Amino acid sequence: MAPSTTCSVRLVSEKSRIVILRELLAAGREQLEERFEVESLGLDATRPEMLAAAKGADALVSDLTFSVDGELLDAAGPGLKVVANYGVGYDNVDLEASASRGVTVTNTPDALTNATAELALALAMAAARDLPQAEEDLRAGRWKGWDPRRWRGFELSGATIGVVGAGRIGARFMELVSGFGGDRLYTSRSPKSELESRHAAERVDLDELLSRSDLISLHLPGGAGTRHLIDEQALGLMKPTAVLVNTGRGTLIDSKALIHALEEDRLGAAGLDVFEGEPALDPGFLTAPRVALAPHIGSATYRSRDEMARIVAANVTAVLEGREPPNRV
Ligand code: GLV
Repeated sequence: MAPSTTCSVRLVSEKSRIVILRELLAAGREQLEERFEVESLGLDATRPEMLAAAKGADALVSDLTFSVDGELLDAAGPGLKVVANYGVGYDNVDLEASASRGVTVTNTPDALTNATAELALALAMAAARDLPQAEEDLRAGRWKGWDPRRWRGFELSGATIGVVGAGRIGARFMELVSGFGGDRLYTSRSPKSELESRHAAERVDLDELLSRSDLISLHLPGGAGTRHLIDEQALGLMKPTAVLVNTGRGTLIDSKALIHALEEDRLGAAGLDVFEGEPALDPGFLTAPRVALAPHIGSATYRSRDEMARIVAANVTAVLEGREPPNRV
């Protein structure tokens, strides 16, 4: 007969039921399937399907596309121990409702830091040089030969670069752009000595950053505290040639105000990976000039998305085995 410790671990594991409310890549899902009973609803799962499937779950795997609120937690019931969010941001999860039900919430930081910072740089360069418009014109047969007047944009070399929110992703972005050689500014609740010593970055308040920067990249979480941080007034502080990049959350920017600023030539360009109300986006973005758009692909590299899935599995496994998860929120 097996020793009793092994036996109790096996019994707990056998009973544990994990519901992946949408999709978890195989890199993480297969790890969970080795130990637990796993149900995966797929990308098209509806809210009623999620509520029904959650019943009796020990663990839920969620993502940024839907709310994990009291209703969903109650649908799972009192056996729910962990909500593992497949992403670094967790503004979709009601932390208070989770805490009051004794449910641990985890996320997947680090794995996507570099991928997201690289996408911010890609969007910055695409927007600054109006690449989407140039490509669209080429594909539509509007390229009639070399033209000194058309498709002109901004250079980032020597530009003053402002990073709003110098967490992991903002700091990596700062590192990536350090080769451009201009001044570097950042906002942060606390000073970042590494950014100041290695990249000669200067900590300033938001208004100063917005008014001095040629490129502004947003790296803040979503939620009520940061909603419409970039509004009409903030846009009014920016240089008319400034390039604004957002790979954080769509809610950071007042969409209408940004669209008007682009249409009225009050802003140089914008590179956006995230949108208010995504996947729907304000149609004004589709016709606004000098804008590079991406469908929320900040972490979408092979390496990052697989690693995030493995982190989800590690978080779920730790909680279900009674250990501290690597990434408790
Ligand atoms: C993506 O936006 C994430 O939060 O991981």
